[in-house]
Amino acid sequence: MTRVRTPTPVAAWTRRDLLALRGLEPAEIRAILRRAKELDLMGPRGDELRGRTVATLFFEDSTRTRLSFTLAARRLGAEVIDLGAGASSVNKGESIVDTARVIHSMGVDAVVVRAKPAGAAALVAESLPCSVVNAGDGRHEHPTQGLLDAYALARATGRDADFDLSGLTVLIVGDVVSSRVARSNIAGLRALGARVVCVGPPALAPVSLSALGCEVSHDFDALLPQADAVMMLRVQFERHEGGAVGSSREFRSACALTRDRAARLKPAAWIMHPGPINKGLELDADLADSPRSLVLQQVRAGVPVRMACLELCLHAASSA
Ligand code: CP
Repeated sequence: MTRVRTPTPVAAWTRRDLLALRGLEPAEIRAILRRAKELDLMGPRGDELRGRTVATLFFEDSTRTRLSFTLAARRLGAEVIDLGAGASSVNKGESIVDTARVIHSMGVDAVVVRAKPAGAAALVAESLPCSVVNAGDGRHEHPTQGLLDAYALARATGRDADFDLSGLTVLIVGDVVSSRVARSNIAGLRALGARVVCVGPPALAPVSLSALGCEVSHDFDALLPQADAVMMLRVQFERHEGGAVGSSREFRSACALTRDRAARLKPAAWIMHPGPINKGLELDADLADSPRSLVLQQVRAGVPVRMACLELCLHAASSA
């Protein structure tokens, strides 16, 4: 049986679209996280988006994001249509924006977009009179991943009453330069008060990242005892040309989370990874599957966080 759950007033959220965490106010981020927590605690099914249609347009591979957006929309009572890269007329030369317009014309209320070019979701949002949620655009941002990471960390550390992460140190480690997850996490975690340090060799964690509001370090070992959470990143071989990553041995020596390094973390420090993981490269397999790992809690958090994002954006669109 479905039921309607009265949303908490969310005056803090007035945006039709969610394209990035950079530029959002802390109150806006907290409005999403608080609503996600309500939806999480209230149970799996409701009627908030009954009669609405959500389209998921994934022009790049995905497991977690795509399926959890689909589940999130269905759990709010929405109808979902789903377009994958391998099955779309983009392969015949149609642009991403034109594809989105075609799908919107079928009677769609919200579009979730993942695409290779940075800025693709913003271009779609400029072209459509409906809500657009960015599910990852090139190296730019992956805002719902940043939100679900903050949600999982706040719950694990008992900070989910007010989603205030001040006093926590989070290391974002590895192939930071390629990572849209890192960019969204820097914005989200800093807005919630955490200290964020990006860590890796200079080619993967250049000092220019500090312009995003984080610290940058090339010395993972020195920072291990300070961390409350270590967020490891997948090495994105597909986004590198030349030898930025180096050999697996060089990479692991500089910035993999190995058993030896994990032994130097605080006992209560959490291990995070957005997935998919190259087990044995950036993160040792037994650590990824250990009780210190938040990896599956991060995945689990994706559903209520994406429910909240869809609900709030669609609510704002219909209130405008
Ligand atoms: N973390 C993440 O975006 O995973 P998927 O590529 O599987 O969606």
